[in-house]
Amino acid sequence: MSLALIVLAAGKGTRMRSADPKVLHKVAGVPMVIHALNAAAPLAPERRLVVVGHGGAAVRAQVQAHDASIEFVDQTEQLGTGHAVDQARAALADFDGDVAVLLGDTPFISPDTLSRIRDRRAEGSDLVVLGFEAADPGKYGRLVAQGDRLERIVEAKDATPEELAIRLCNSGVICADRALMFDLIAQLNDDNASGEYYLTDIIGLANDAGRTCSVVVCDEAETLGVNSRIDLAAADGIFQARARQAAMAAGVTLQAPDTVYFSYDTQLGQDVIVEPNVVFGLGVRVEDGVTIRAFSHLEGCHVAPGATVGPYARLRPGSTIGAGARVGNFVETKNADIAAGAKLNHLSYIGDAEVGAEANIGAGTITCNYDGVSKHRTEIGAGAFIGSNASLVAPVSVGAGAIVGAGSVVTRNVPDHALAVARADQKTLPDLARKLRERRLAMKAKK
Ligand code: UD1
Ligand code: CA
Repeated sequence: MSLALIVLAAGKGTRMRSADPKVLHKVAGVPMVIHALNAAAPLAPERRLVVVGHGGAAVRAQVQAHDASIEFVDQTEQLGTGHAVDQARAALADFDGDVAVLLGDTPFISPDTLSRIRDRRAEGSDLVVLGFEAADPGKYGRLVAQGDRLERIVEAKDATPEELAIRLCNSGVICADRALMFDLIAQLNDDNASGEYYLTDIIGLANDAGRTCSVVVCDEAETLGVNSRIDLAAADGIFQARARQAAMAAGVTLQAPDTVYFSYDTQLGQDVIVEPNVVFGLGVRVEDGVTIRAFSHLEGCHVAPGATVGPYARLRPGSTIGAGARVGNFVETKNADIAAGAKLNHLSYIGDAEVGAEANIGAGTITCNYDGVSKHRTEIGAGAFIGSNASLVAPVSVGAGAIVGAGSVVTRNVPDHALAVARADQKTLPDLARKLRERRLAMKAKK
């Protein structure tokens, strides 16, 4: 059976107290709405629609940048979740199959849970709702069920005290055949405590029409709905806990797991060792046997097997660190290709550069890549030796096996195997230090 996904993302999210729409707030480096879309990816939905309203242009832009095949429908007035789904009616008029509704502020439903919902549909349940046992049911909608049969959903604001005592809650995910879903939505009214068209009212309507409705239950951690910054931090915490467990289970040593921050796409190979207080930004791939030492910050980079990074290193986007290379303390790389076995051990900035295999970059070496207008490249050949505190003024190249003297300001290319020294010549004046000191002491005594 084919599947169309509708992700609701039109709400303002007042409780976030933010200029940005709620669903663009990030968990593990990615907007929540994209987590919701990613969760459903393994089900291979034929169509994916996002309902946008508040901050719609920004939501569209970010979602489209993530995946250009996603469609959008506008909800100009936020009249409730049922009204939001109704906006997709025309777009899905010819769609033959199931519709699954997901909430853009509920980022962690697992693909496994979503496929259980589909299985339940295949077993003949007309309408399937994803529920969970809430530790604190609070404002969640309550599921009124008799055994396996779901009778209706009552929103907390409209519930009686007996209904409020129910702990089985609505996650917001609802799945039904497209035609049935939109038939039921057409019957909704806004006669309730919020004056909204509640999607959740379709369950009662389906029962009235003799349809079967059932609940698939998942873990509460999957259904955390983010309504405030406090929820956002809790959601990120849940993501981080899962990412750390998964990394360790896959053969990564985390010396102090709670201090390591992952992005949703962080990839760490086997026998990677991560020391305390490391941040993985977006787009990091670290291969087997790499050690990431304490307090390092990595984003948009690839680290090949056996390399060592840090402590206190910063790898910025476009950095590739070759096998066995060493990037030490207070070294920053950006858009830099560091070949196998190269050493950048201390206090350097290497940007828009290529560093050849086994090259040695002395402490304090800087690639001067920016002239105030444009960026320029620096090329350093294999086995080159750059003395400490050199400034390589790009565009410039240092050939294979060449040596650059410490403290040089290199502005012209250095051929292979050449020695370049570009600094003021040293003057040494015998005995002058002693004479100078004696003269100064004599002057002081006269005063
Ligand atoms: C909703 C459910 C509730 C469930 C809870 C789970 C309804 C009526 N209630 O409540 O049963 O327990 O989620 O987290 O469905 N949205 C729109 N347009 C609208 C209204 C909402 O796009 O007109 C979007 C929001 O942007 C948000 C999502 O729908 O992403 C949920 O809306 P929200 O107002 O947060 O619903 P809850 O009160 O949390
Ligand atoms: Ca919500």
